[in-house]
Amino acid sequence: MKLTHCRSLILAVLLLAIPVLATAQSVDDITPIPAEVKKARRGHVTIDGDAQIVFDKQFANQAAYLKEMLVGQTGLKLKSQESSQTISKAPHNIRLLYDAKAIDRDEMYTLVVAGKDVTIRAKDTGGMVYGIQTLLQLFPLKPVQEVKVPDVEIRDYPRFAYRGMHLDVVRHMFPLDFIKKYIDYLAFHKMNTFHWHLTDDQGWRIEIESYPKLNSIGSWRDSTLIGHFKAAPARYDTTRYGGFYTKDEVREVIRYAAMRGINIIPEIDIPGHSRATIAAYSELSTRPDSTWSVATTWGMYNRHNNVLQPNPATFKFLKTVFQEVAELFPSEYFHLGGDETSKLWWKADPVSQKFIKDHNLKDEKGLQTYFVEQVAGYLAEKGKKVIGWHEILEGDLSTSTLIMNWGGEKEGIAAAKRGHQVIMSPGRPLYFDHYQSKDPNDSLAIHGYNPLDAVYNFEPVPDTLRKLNLDHYIIGAQGNLWTEYIGSTAKVEYMVFPRMTALSEVLWSPREKRDFADFKRRLKTAIIPRYTFWKAHYFPNYEQWTAEKEALK
Ligand code: ACM
Repeated sequence: MKLTHCRSLILAVLLLAIPVLATAQSVDDITPIPAEVKKARRGHVTIDGDAQIVFDKQFANQAAYLKEMLVGQTGLKLKSQESSQTISKAPHNIRLLYDAKAIDRDEMYTLVVAGKDVTIRAKDTGGMVYGIQTLLQLFPLKPVQEVKVPDVEIRDYPRFAYRGMHLDVVRHMFPLDFIKKYIDYLAFHKMNTFHWHLTDDQGWRIEIESYPKLNSIGSWRDSTLIGHFKAAPARYDTTRYGGFYTKDEVREVIRYAAMRGINIIPEIDIPGHSRATIAAYSELSTRPDSTWSVATTWGMYNRHNNVLQPNPATFKFLKTVFQEVAELFPSEYFHLGGDETSKLWWKADPVSQKFIKDHNLKDEKGLQTYFVEQVAGYLAEKGKKVIGWHEILEGDLSTSTLIMNWGGEKEGIAAAKRGHQVIMSPGRPLYFDHYQSKDPNDSLAIHGYNPLDAVYNFEPVPDTLRKLNLDHYIIGAQGNLWTEYIGSTAKVEYMVFPRMTALSEVLWSPREKRDFADFKRRLKTAIIPRYTFWKAHYFPNYEQWTAEKEALK
C-alpha cells in the first residue's frame, strides 16, 4: 500500500472512532449551582464544526478562550468573528454579547439556548468567563463532531464578591505551567481571585531588581525538613532548594489570569515571616550582627521567626520593594501579610524600643500598626489598597484596610464591627493543607481535620453579624493552601479536590440552593469526570470521612 493510502485509511478509522453525535451533559449537573435555571421541555441547538462564535469586541479574548477550550474538550474547531463585521452565515452561533442593560449585577451572565443560537450576555470579563464555564459544562468531555445543547435559560451571578484560592509557593515552588493550571481550576470554579503567597521565612519567590540579594540569597535554602516539624529528632535533606518567578513570568501569569477573569493579589509578608529577607540583608533585622540563613524548617514562630527592625534602611527597603512589586500587578489590593509577628524581638531590641518611644507608639502592637500604615502609604502612592491577615487589627487601622481572617468567627465579627470588610479564611475548615481524613496512612498534612462536608457546610456570614445587619462586611471567603507538606503538583491537586469544588458552591450559589446530597451526586456524575479529564489528582474517600460521622462517634 502506498503511504498516502495508508494515511487515509488511518484517518478514516480515526474518524469512525469519534462519536458522531453526543448528548450534552445535563443542566442539572452544573456546578456551582446557578442562581436561576429555566429548563425548556424540548428543543436544542446543534453545535458542530459549522457553528460559529460571534463576539462583541469587548469579549475578543474570551472568544479565543472559548475556542481553545472547546477544541481541548471536544475537538470541535469553531470559527469566530466579531459581531460588527459581516453578519454570520453559520447555521448556528455561539454569541458572546456585551449587554449592560439586561445584566444588572457585577460578574453576572445569562445563558440562553433557544432557536438557532446559544447566547451568553455579560457586562464584564468575569461574567462572560462564567457563562463560558457553564456552557462548557453542557458539552461532553470527549471528542465529538456534533453536540445537541438542550434549550435552557440561565440567569446566574455570585453570592459573594470575593471568591478566592491561595497558594503558598515558598515552602514549595511550582512550575509556571502549574500556576496557570491552578488559575484554570479557579476559573472553572467561578472564583475570581488568586492569592499568590510569594515570600516567607523559607524563601523569596519573585524577582526584585532593586534588592538583588533577595533572589541571589533569599530565594535559596540549603536544605529542607523531612517529615513533620514536630518529629524528633528533626531530619533534613541536603539539597539546595529554591528559585523565583521572573518579572516576565509574572507578567505572563497576570495576562493568563486576566483573560479568565481572575485577579491576582500578591503577598509580600512583613514585618514577620522575614527570615529570607534578613538572610539577604541582615541590616533589616533586629539582630543585624547575627548570621541569618533562609529557614529550612516549618512551624516557626517566636525564637526562630525574626522580624524587621524599624530603622531607616528598613523603611527605604519596604518602600522600594513594595512599590516595585505594585507596579507589576494591576490588582487594586496588595497583601502585606502581617501575621504571626513575634513581639519578643522588638521587646528585646533597644533600637525598636527607642523607635516606639520616639514615635509615641503605645507598645509593640502599636509598632506593628506603624509598619502596616507605612506600607499602606507606599502602596497608596501607587494607587493600591491593602489587605492583611487579621493580626494587623491588634492596633487601630484605617477601615479602608481589608481584613483576611484566618482565625474563627470571633475575629471576623470583631473586624466587621470595627467597620472593616472581611474575607473569611478560617483555619477550620478553609485550610486545605489540613487533613481531609483521619486515616493514619493518609499523606502527611497539617494536624487539623477539614473534611469535605465541613467545607460544604461552612457559612461565611456569622449569625451574629446577620442579626446586627452587618453581614455586608463579609465580602467572601478563601481556601488556603500552605505547602510545607505539599512538595508536588499532584499533592496540591489531591489536597484541593474536591474541597475547592465545595467551597466554590458556598461562594457562588444562593445559600438556600446548597444541598450536600445533590452536591455529592454531581461530584460523581460531572465533577470527578472533569478532574479525570484534567488528569488531576483528587481525594477519593470523601464519603467515608466526614465531620458529621465524627460528631456521631
Ligand atoms: C497564617 O496562617 N499564618 C496566615
